[in-house]
Amino acid sequence: MRVTMIGPPGSGKGTQGELLAAALSVPHVVSSDLLREAQGDSDGRMASGDLVDDQAVIDLVLERLGAPDCAGGFLLDGFPRDTTQATALDGWLAGADRPLEHAVLLDVPEDALLERLEERAAEQHRDDDGPQTRRHRLDLYRQQTAPVIDYYRRRGVLRQVDAAAGVDEVARRVRAAVDRP
Ligand code: AP5
Ligand code: MG
Repeated sequence: MRVTMIGPPGSGKGTQGELLAAALSVPHVVSSDLLREAQGDSDGRMASGDLVDDQAVIDLVLERLGAPDCAGGFLLDGFPRDTTQATALDGWLAGADRPLEHAVLLDVPEDALLERLEERAAEQHRDDDGPQTRRHRLDLYRQQTAPVIDYYRRRGVLRQVDAAAGVDEVARRVRAAVDRP
């Protein structure tokens, strides 16, 4: 199965992506992990919550999706993040005759997102979880990534999931969303 997980910072893309990838036996392809492995955070954009240059991310993700272990499907997390990336992904997948099947949107109200990110900041000290930076990431999500939702809705692959519940319940809802024909 070919799936991408979209949603604002703190919506559970990583948490649910890992569970769904394991359930489907496909690789969990995390754009921020690919970026960190390939180039670190050389210009500080990740730490400041800004998006990294489109072409750099597109090249890395498409190269990863071309690896043999993704031939049977993949679970993308954090990509596409804007319509330029969505168009590049679509074009590439169409060329390989294996279109995206589901774009799972994890829907969580903003106050709950901020609460989750605050808790994670206290526990894990992720460098982009500080109070200003997490708000900036949410702003960028609204500006840059929210249009991707309409893009996938028009293509008939958007699966909106109410993700303001416990991890197990959200996992159940995500499975139900991608199990439908
Ligand atoms: P990225 O790593 O993708 O960060 P993000 O989108 O801001 O999302 P997070 O990882 O913070 O949240 P999540 O949705 O994965 O939630 P999680 O499961 O962790 O990107 C980081 C940076 O990389 C970007 O800012 C950018 O610079 C760069 N980048 C990456 N991709 C890019 C791209 N395509 N283009 C350009 N730049 C790119 O959960 C959050 C917390 O909530 C955790 O503590 C978790 O335990 C908890 N939690 C999860 N589910 C629940 C639940 N159901 N109930 C209660 N708590 C929960
Ligand atoms: Mg994540």
